[in-house]
Amino acid sequence: MVPPAEGKVVIVGVTGASGAILAQTALRLLAADSRVARVHLVVSDAGLRLLDHELGIVAPLTDLPARLLAGWGDSHLESVGKIEVLPNADIGASIASGSYSADAMCVIPCSMGMLSSVAAGASTDLISRAADVSLKEGRRLILCIRDTPFSRIHIENMLRVQQAGALVMPAIPSFYHRPKTIDDLVTQYVCRVLAQLGLPQPRQFAWQGQHPNSNQNTKRNPPTPTRDEDVPGEQVPEDRMPNQRLPDERMPNARTPSARMPNEDPLLETVQNPGPGRVRKARPA
Ligand SMILES: Cc1cc2nc3c(=O)[nH]c(=O)nc-3n(C[C@H](O)[C@H](O)[C@H](O)COP(=O)(O)O)c2cc1C
Repeated sequence: MVPPAEGKVVIVGVTGASGAILAQTALRLLAADSRVARVHLVVSDAGLRLLDHELGIVAPLTDLPARLLAGWGDSHLESVGKIEVLPNADIGASIASGSYSADAMCVIPCSMGMLSSVAAGASTDLISRAADVSLKEGRRLILCIRDTPFSRIHIENMLRVQQAGALVMPAIPSFYHRPKTIDDLVTQYVCRVLAQLGLPQPRQFAWQGQHPNSNQNTKRNPPTPTRDEDVPGEQVPEDRMPNQRLPDERMPNARTPSARMPNEDPLLETVQNPGPGRVRKARPA
């Protein structure tokens, strides 16, 4: 398919991580967005299974866009044609080549298996190949990973793709916009993802700052935090970033940065020299 002359071309990969509703919401917003000319949608086999399990959507690939956009007002019928579904096995599809000028790609949700494929440059299916192409062409690639807890392998793979140019956006919702419904939670997360794709959304909540002793800080009045959580605008000493704690404030035995070896990057060092039971001696500060 020839890329359109105007408007963004966005690739959306959907894999078998929980969160099919994230993909559905992203596709709905992209389809409705007049700045977007075309969406290439690729769903892995596990992704299809999750669409069935979590959304009750089972359909031939060609019918997927209409099924995913159904129930979102009459206008969806016009925008459904923007979405082209490509089989994940078709490694000869347009988006498998860097010569096809896509603007950006996100994998939403992104399984840890797909993260691993991207980190390894495996390119064994269309999603991982298109992701690989995005990286080699220096295009925006967002991986909306989802799993918990993370293993060391997950974290090392995240580091690897981030260093190769991808943006890792774990499917972690925020609560300071006071969501009332699952749709509130999901939409705010997806808006953040789309903004990172270069498509800021009018529905995205923007924190306006918070006066230390006031509950009257935004139009939606987020509550004053009562627990030690990730809340923007928290008052911290000037020499720290908001929400930053020194290591010894988190864990009694955590090492402070000054106790690290010179040039020591604990994660990278372990990537290069893995193995259980290694003992590192901290140099006196
Ligand atoms: C119901 C269900 C939920 C799953 N949730 C996750 C998940 O949240 N994160 C993840 O990494 N894998 C999850 N998996 C496992 C992946 O689907 C599995 O690793 C699969 O091989 C990923 O393949 P894909 O990357 O080609 O989509 C889930 C599987 C099922 C059946």
